[in-house]
Amino acid sequence: MTLPFTADSADTGLTIAVTTSRHPDAQEEQEARELAAREGFLFRPRRRRPLEALFAGDAARGEVPVAVIVVVTRDQVVAHSRQGPPLFFHPGMAKIRIQRLRQGGGDPMITAMDLGPGQRVLDCTLGFGADAIVSSYVVGETGEVVGWESSPVIACVMRHGMARYQQPVHAELPALVAAIRRVKVERVDHRLGLPHLPDGAFDVVYFDPMFRHPLLHSQPLAPLRLFADHRPIEVEVLEQAKRVARRRVVVKDRSSGEELDRLGLTTRVGGHKSPVTFGIWIKE
Ligand SMILES: C[S@@+](CC[C@H](N)C(=O)[O-])C[C@H]1O[C@@H](n2cnc3c(N)ncnc32)[C@H](O)[C@@H]1O
Repeated sequence: MTLPFTADSADTGLTIAVTTSRHPDAQEEQEARELAAREGFLFRPRRRRPLEALFAGDAARGEVPVAVIVVVTRDQVVAHSRQGPPLFFHPGMAKIRIQRLRQGGGDPMITAMDLGPGQRVLDCTLGFGADAIVSSYVVGETGEVVGWESSPVIACVMRHGMARYQQPVHAELPALVAAIRRVKVERVDHRLGLPHLPDGAFDVVYFDPMFRHPLLHSQPLAPLRLFADHRPIEVEVLEQAKRVARRRVVVKDRSSGEELDRLGLTTRVGGHKSPVTFGIWIKE
């Protein structure tokens, strides 16, 4: 089950409303109202109502039914639909991967990107942001990572969830929080955004599209799947990415997938024991 997608929620009739916790103070409500206005979503006052009542709306007050409710509190931004689990930001695998890098271990995506400090990365498929955060850790303060996400719900949840994310005090990984904060999240469809960028604008342009056949055990991706843009990468998009990349274009796929062949990416990293492979295009 997936929700209808568009870069502009108004196009599909996918109505999205922002609300607060059940007992917000004035500041929390003001912040939620402002967030709704910035994202172009409706604002629905909570009035202590359960989510089910918010989805339906109160016709007597002129409220229309909505498909998605985004609950905004000081600590979190969580998107709810009636079709599946809620979506919120958590650093998940990024934390484990950064810990591994700090212990001198490798990361196949970083190897595929040949990434180092000071470089600029355009992540064209942000999703949960794990890959963007690991890139952000590697490029450091002198580099830059921009994350594009076409799904309005995912872009909103990740942008505001990443800004609010606080580590438990005992976690002792300040580098993780710093890397999260440096990712610049933008609601952009890469099909529309790439043609506007100048040649060589980023060192690496990266894609991790939704797999045509999802890995069965990737249960944590279930909330993302519901709200995500499932369209495959177009050949024209890859050509634009090659123009925008100063050094490399990197595309992730299942090791058993056919997308890298379809896109003509024959240079590969990973795949022997890993369920995923990276296809690489290197600028001459
Ligand atoms: C598999 S997820 C990416 C996961 C991400 N690499 C991570 O580490 O969490 C793919 C994401 O790309 C987004 N997406 C798909 N097509 C897109 C497009 N044309 N422009 C921007 N984002 C897109 C989807 O909505 C989804 O959130």
